[in-house]
Amino acid sequence: MNILIIGSGGREHAIAHKISQSPRLNRLFVAPGNAGTARIAANIDLGVNDFEGIKSLVLREKINLVVVGPENPLVEGIYDFFHSDPELKNIQVIGPPKAAATLEGSKEFAKKFMLRHGIPTAAYQSFTSDRLEEGFQFLESLNPPYVLKADGLAAGKGVLILHDLEEAKKELRSMLRDAKFGMASRIVVIEEFLDGIELSCFVLTDGENYKILPTAKDYKRIGEGDTGLNTGGMGAISPVPFVDEAFMRKIEEQIVQPTVEGLKKENLPYIGFIFIGLIKVGDQPKVIEYNVRMGDPETEVVFPRIQNDFVELLKATAEGRLNEIELEIDNRSAATVMAVSGGYPEAYKKGKVISGIEKVDNAIVFHAGTKLDNSTVITNGGRVLAVTALGNHFEEALKIAYRNIKKLDFDGIYYRKDIGFDL
Ligand code: AMP
Ligand code: GLY
Repeated sequence: MNILIIGSGGREHAIAHKISQSPRLNRLFVAPGNAGTARIAANIDLGVNDFEGIKSLVLREKINLVVVGPENPLVEGIYDFFHSDPELKNIQVIGPPKAAATLEGSKEFAKKFMLRHGIPTAAYQSFTSDRLEEGFQFLESLNPPYVLKADGLAAGKGVLILHDLEEAKKELRSMLRDAKFGMASRIVVIEEFLDGIELSCFVLTDGENYKILPTAKDYKRIGEGDTGLNTGGMGAISPVPFVDEAFMRKIEEQIVQPTVEGLKKENLPYIGFIFIGLIKVGDQPKVIEYNVRMGDPETEVVFPRIQNDFVELLKATAEGRLNEIELEIDNRSAATVMAVSGGYPEAYKKGKVISGIEKVDNAIVFHAGTKLDNSTVITNGGRVLAVTALGNHFEEALKIAYRNIKKLDFDGIYYRKDIGFDL
């Protein structure tokens, strides 16, 4: 099979890494990819939303299956683009149609979906700018902290958690009236604050059957002890040690099953990954958000633990045969630590020469924001490299990942030294 992966981060390198191990693979392409994917695939310099460019590539290279990494092309309708084009409609696409991708593209849509299907989540109301005063009244009826969410995609920045009522009102006004997050905050969801520990559950579905992939926990803040600004993710571990069988059963029965059933009932044919952001409140899992893709850096700990032939797994998904597959999971733990550019998630410099990758042993380096400058690997983004290791428990995996990340260097390198601190 010829396969194309769309995206350029650590997630896409981890997907490429798994696919490249399959004997069923003929040729692998990544658009646009990074210096890591360049070693195992052909990088094609195309934007992830350049659907016409992707079409030409798919026809030219006789690609049979496309895996969509990031949410943006999904929310923009790449699945529908393929299925409505006579030349592309038989190409297998791993990723949901636009209507289902709205689960990530609109928080209000996701909340309503959960309500319709009895899926546990925080109580909420949503507001538009003509209802600002009612929004203020709703805030007054809640206890702090206050959770304000821009309805649309806001590059991971659209959620504000505020401790002060006046501050919350000010932010609500700025989101609704001053378009703080552009069109994304035309609607704001205000919800009950949930106090608990977060984890993520990943599901692969063919629209009929599903497989629950290993759980993971990521560390989103830039600073140690979970302080400072939010990032795309600074590290992750899998599995989540506090998830026992009983809790997993609750997740499956109360959340995964009604989600997959709900999609079916609403005629939203979903072929792909569902990333369910959860919070454990007491003994109860509640949904914080849906994403219609894998997480990054969660993929860098979840996929290395999947032992199945990955192309067979994706093919079975595309063909509605997931029921024929038995997932084989490595029961060791995986940990990943992300090395980022100095200044990230605010302004940072690109183009710094990276050294030390060849010294890494007993761990995998997944490239995120890197590119090749002739044959030199240089930085090309905020999150640069993720170092993943496996161990008998997460502390051991972390120890190996940290021993290796020390060997890497570029001007301004920073990483958190406390991944897993709260477990
Ligand atoms: P989201 O973009 O929806 O994942 O939200 C970003 C982060 O905000 C989450 O990872 C949580 O840490 C936090 N968050 C979102 N909703 C809530 C909530 N209702 N209660 C507490 N924390 C929340
Ligand atoms: N690591 C969080 C995300 O991928 O959204």
